[in-house]
Amino acid sequence: MADTLARAGWDVIVHANRSAAQADTLCTHLATHGGKAWRVTGDLLAAGVPEAVFDAALACAGRVDALVNNASQFALQPLASATPENFERLWRINTLAPVRLTQRLAAHLAARHATGSAVNLLDQRIAHPNAGAVPYLLSKKALEAFTLSAALEFAPALRVNAVAPGAVLLPSAASNKEPAGTIPLLTRPSAEQVAAAVRYLLEAEAVTGQILYVDGGQHLLS
Ligand SMILES: NC(=O)c1ccc[n+]([C@@H]2O[C@H](COP(=O)([O-])OP(=O)(O)OC[C@H]3O[C@@H](n4cnc5c(N)ncnc54)[C@H](OP(=O)(O)O)[C@@H]3O)[C@@H](O)[C@H]2O)c1
Repeated sequence: MADTLARAGWDVIVHANRSAAQADTLCTHLATHGGKAWRVTGDLLAAGVPEAVFDAALACAGRVDALVNNASQFALQPLASATPENFERLWRINTLAPVRLTQRLAAHLAARHATGSAVNLLDQRIAHPNAGAVPYLLSKKALEAFTLSAALEFAPALRVNAVAPGAVLLPSAASNKEPAGTIPLLTRPSAEQVAAAVRYLLEAEAVTGQILYVDGGQHLLS
């Protein structure tokens, strides 16, 4: 996503938690596209850190026009053994952090009398009941609800949209092809295709409150 946006002319602030060294390498690469790139760090699980991450980004770049809420954790967690801590952890990282970052962006845009956009990363799994990862599913369902409500509440200054990918394999995976019938288009999305959707929504000035599934049609299956 950072690479796609940098190639399109965006200056990019990369947020990392444990992968600060990789993020620095990425920023060096992004700068080769001609724009600026900075790295900020923070554990989004901790109270106050999403706000601190936004403020650090602002200190680097001077202004922020757009936000991609991509950081997330997934956990296979049978409902029978899921603890309140399991739910709270995914809620804080996958839902509350994007909410707080979006609120911060909206306030920053209002102070500048400017407009901007935010894109939240969901998951095609929100389209169906899904056994085995309910704490994760709830965190993304809540982020979907936030996307639609925030689109309404923060209009016209801030557009809020979401991308819901299907399973994206690492570039090292042998094949993105699925057995016939599992995915209508018989292919998994690539990271580049998800990134293109993110870029589209960030730049689509007439679009807000949209959930864009990039999943080969998987969300259509019951
Ligand atoms: N990959 C898929 O197949 C797939 C499918 C559907 C939806 N999605 C969604 O697409 C997005 C990207 O997926 P992905 O597979 O690329 O995700 P990922 O590699 O599992 O995680 C992305 C990043 O989230 C950051 N992160 C995790 N916990 C954090 C914390 N406590 N504080 C701050 N940052 C934290 C990590 O940063 P550090 O490494 O710096 O710690 C990590 O690199 C996610 O929102 C995911 O739910 C992915």
